[in-house]
Amino acid sequence: MGNLKAAITGVQGFVPEYVLTNAELEQMVDTTEEWIVTRTGIKERRILKGEGKGPSDMAALAIAKLLEKTQIQPEEIDLLIFATVTPDMVFPATANVTAYKAGLINAFGFDVNAACSGWLYALDAAKNYIESGAHQKIIVAGFDKMSSIVDYEDRATCVLFGDGGGAVLLEPHAEFGIQDTIMESDGSGWVHLHQKAGGSVLPPSHETVDQKLHYIYQEGSHVFKAAVSQMAKVSKEIMDRNRLSADEIAYLVPHQANLRIIDAVRRNMSLPEEKVMINIHKFGNTTNGTIPLCLWEWEEKLNPGDNLILSAFGGGFTWGAIYLKWAYHR
Ligand code: ACO
Repeated sequence: MGNLKAAITGVQGFVPEYVLTNAELEQMVDTTEEWIVTRTGIKERRILKGEGKGPSDMAALAIAKLLEKTQIQPEEIDLLIFATVTPDMVFPATANVTAYKAGLINAFGFDVNAACSGWLYALDAAKNYIESGAHQKIIVAGFDKMSSIVDYEDRATCVLFGDGGGAVLLEPHAEFGIQDTIMESDGSGWVHLHQKAGGSVLPPSHETVDQKLHYIYQEGSHVFKAAVSQMAKVSKEIMDRNRLSADEIAYLVPHQANLRIIDAVRRNMSLPEEKVMINIHKFGNTTNGTIPLCLWEWEEKLNPGDNLILSAFGGGFTWGAIYLKWAYHR
């Protein structure tokens, strides 16, 4: 099985209907459309409304469409890897709940939590299951309901995040698919980006709720600098070690946290703007959803053999890059 590659053979996104605009945020916190657009590039984001809804509901809808468009039966799926920082529940895994809702009766599954790099880490894990020959049809899902951990009184974070995500089907391929991956982390970065309460160290209590400790805590400028340096580093490194020139890259597919971070990564790779997938203006930072949402939106423009560089940075700190050759034209 030594030469098998793991190729994406289908992608489907899902975003909720409700659009939270910068104008609406201006009514909620002390901010301006101008600040949000110039500092982040975000114009609007989607919010999952309705009681009792979580990432598994968004994922089950996307997976149903993914299976329909790839003409695969739900029972053919071997494995579901689910990247999320906002699981439906602390346990069981959202992968298990989603597999049940999507009818993936023969799949086992588990969640990956690596903050905004989670979907890349999950794709890297799935690649190894395919290359080993152990599994033939894997779904790699990345969905977050960031609105569940955002403090809508904190202007520094509430403008950034949105809900949504996407799922890909991964299958063996003789030539195209994932060619190379770089995955890195530095746990000392946890202090700069985390959720303080709700885990076992600080379980939920009246006090933790009163002190607003169940929301995202982020030291924005520190995270910004680390994101620029690490995402730029691995994106260039994966390009260089595969001897890829800027001309040979069809698209950079970056995690969508901030347009200025994306631009710094692009410039370090000497890529023109038109070779970068960007939808942050419409969806904000959906954490594990950003990269599959980009692939979904660009799917019809992609051709077999196209060289893509996927790149992300997130809490942990975690970061990584994947070089893949696209496998199909839809
Ligand atoms: N509207 C108006 N002013 C604001 C807002 C806002 N929404 N938010 C912050 N400000 C103010 C701050 O209060 C500060 O004011 P001060 O100078 O009077 O103190 C000023 O703007 C500058 O604040 P900074 O935080 O230094 O602003 P910065 O230019 O760094 O932008 C941002 C903030 C957008 C958060 C940026 O730092 C960023 O994008 N960071 C990285 C985010 C990221 O990549 N996260 C990783 C992934 S997320 C995950 O893993 C879950």
